Amino acid sequence: MKIKLLLLAGASIVCAAVAIAAEKGSTKEGSKRSISLPAPSVFLKDGPGMDETRRYCGICHSLDYITTQQKFPKAKWQGVVNKMIKTYGAPIPDKDAKIIVDYISTNYGSGK
Ligand code: HEC
Repeated sequence: MKIKLLLLAGASIVCAAVAIAAEKGSTKEGSKRSISLPAPSVFLKDGPGMDETRRYCGICHSLDYITTQQKFPKAKWQGVVNKMIKTYGAPIPDKDAKIIVDYISTNYGSGK
């Protein structure tokens, strides 16, 4: 019981902090409202394909899904990217999917 209450309290503090942060970076102009998002917190190694990977692979989840994986062989990364596109509907053109697989297997792969 105590633990649950603590978790609840923790969660509301986080929510309040997010609300405050969002309010700070937001502007209101007539009915138009915009917010500035915080800088991405996951660092991707620089190299060809880094931009495409950052653009497409961070749409649904954090980029640390890439950086914290084991060093998979290229075929496995190809499979992951295919799954994101076919199963989860990631809107990635074929040309960019290829660039992304090359980038990830070069920088976060086993080298095989
Ligand atoms: C359309 C949304 C979407 C996009 C875009 C997307 N993913 Fe995912 N990804 C998911 C979902 C849903 C899961 C599984 C649920 C979870 O673990 O959060 C997932 C899980 C993963 C995992 C965990 C292991 C696994 O196979 O489930 C990895 C690695 C991953 N994604 C990599 C990528 C890479 C690389 C890209 C860019 C090519 C990407 N994702 C783009 C939706 C997406």
